[in-house]
Amino acid sequence: MLAWKRSRKILLCVTGGIAAYKIPDLVSRLRKLDCEVEIAMTEAAETLVSPLALSTLSNRRAWLQSDFLASSRGFEIPHIHLADWAEVVVVAPCSANTAFGVAQGRAGGIVEAALLATQAPVVLFPAMNVHMFENPATRRNLEILTQRGVRVVDPAFGLLACGYEGKGRLPDTDLILEEIAYALSPRRDLAGKHILVTAGPTREYLDPVRFISNPSSGKMGLAMARTAWYRGAEVRVILGPASPAGSAHGLEIHGVVSTLEMRDAVMENLEWADCIVKAAAVGDYRAEEKADHKIKRNTGGNDQERTFSLSLVQNPDIAAEVGARKRADQLLIGFAAETDDLVANARAKLERKGLDVMLANDVSAPSSGFGVDTNVVHMISRTGGEISISGSKEEVADAVWEELITGGLF
Ligand code: PMT
Repeated sequence: MLAWKRSRKILLCVTGGIAAYKIPDLVSRLRKLDCEVEIAMTEAAETLVSPLALSTLSNRRAWLQSDFLASSRGFEIPHIHLADWAEVVVVAPCSANTAFGVAQGRAGGIVEAALLATQAPVVLFPAMNVHMFENPATRRNLEILTQRGVRVVDPAFGLLACGYEGKGRLPDTDLILEEIAYALSPRRDLAGKHILVTAGPTREYLDPVRFISNPSSGKMGLAMARTAWYRGAEVRVILGPASPAGSAHGLEIHGVVSTLEMRDAVMENLEWADCIVKAAAVGDYRAEEKADHKIKRNTGGNDQERTFSLSLVQNPDIAAEVGARKRADQLLIGFAAETDDLVANARAKLERKGLDVMLANDVSAPSSGFGVDTNVVHMISRTGGEISISGSKEEVADAVWEELITGGLF
C-alpha cells in the first residue's frame, strides 16, 4: 500500500439518505488504514444511522446538528475546526437537500457550514431516489458544485431502497475508498497525459473449452494503471482474461481474450496514447487451427500410443510493432518476464522491440512476477540507466512513474 494513503485526516459528513446505514463500514475501513475520522451529521442523518455507532467506530465523538454554534469547545467553533483540520472532506451519502444547500452556499447546520468553510478537497457521493437524482434541479446543483471544484461521484445503478431500479445507490465502500485516495494523492504530475496499459494474460483457444495461457493475474498492469490515475492521467487498460483483486475504478477497461484481439485493441488506441505500458503476459503462439468442437479423447491402442500433436503458429509481437510504429514523442515501456540472465536478456529485448524502458522481473523468484502482490524489477532505460525497485506492485508502479518523471523521460 502506498504510504500516503495511510494515517490521513478525514472529515466524513453524513446526510439524510437511507444509504447512511452503510457508513459504519466505511469508517471501520478508514480506521484500518490508521486514518483519523471526524464525523459530522445532519439532523436527518441522525434518524438513519446511530451517532453512537459512528463515534464508537471512529473513536471520537460524532458532531451533531445540536453542536452547531454550541459553546462546548470554548472559543473553538466546531465547523471551522473541522473544516481546517480535514485533509479531505467526504459527503456520503449526500442528499438532494444537502447538495442544494452547499450549491447555494447555505450554512444552515454543522455539515453545510463546514463545507462552506473548508479549503480541503471535497468529494461528494449523491445517493437518492433515481427521479430525485435525475431531476434538473438536482443535476443543476451538482453541476454548480462540479464547476466549483467539488468532485461529484455518480451513484451506482441498482435496486434502490424506495423500490425503483436505477441510478441512485451509494457506491461500494471500495470505490469510495479509491475516490478518497484519488483526492489525497500528493501529485497530479501526469495530468493531461494519456496512458495505455496492457495487463493480464492472453488465451489461445485450441477448441471451445481448452486454451493455452499463463498465470498472469493482471495485478502489475493494473497497479501501473491505477498509480497513473492517482497522478492525474487518463488511463485505458487492455485487459486479458483476469479478475484482478484491487480496484479498476477510474480506469477505462477494454477486455480482450487472445493475442490478436490484444494487438488490435492496442493499435486502435495507439494514436491516443502518450505512453504505452506493456505489462501483459502475451501468448507467443496460437493453434494453427482452432477446432469447432471439443477435441475428443483417442480411444484406439494403449495410453502410450495415444499421442496428440498440436501445430502452433507464432503470434505478432505487439511491443515490437508498437516500437516500430510509435511517434518520437510516445514513450514505450515493456516488462520482461525472465528466469535467467535477467538484465542481459531484458536489455536485448529492449533493443529488439524498440522500447524506451524495460522493467525486468525475475518470474522464478517467490516474491516477484506472476500472481503475487509484490515485485522486484530492474528498470533499464535505453539511455543506459539501471535501477532496482521492490515492494508491493502498487509501490513498484508508483516508483516507476516517479523515476520516469524525475528522470525527465516523461
Ligand atoms: O499479472 P501479474 O500476475 O501481476 O504478473 C505480472 C507479470 C509477471 C505478468 C508482468 O510483470 C510481466 O513481466 N509482464 C510481461 C510478461 C511477458 O510477456 O514478458 P516477455 O519477456 O515475454 O515479453 C516482453 C515484452 O513484450 C512484454 O512487455 C510483453 O507484453 C511484450 N510482448 C510479448 C510477446 C508478444 N507476442 N507481444 C508482446 O507485446
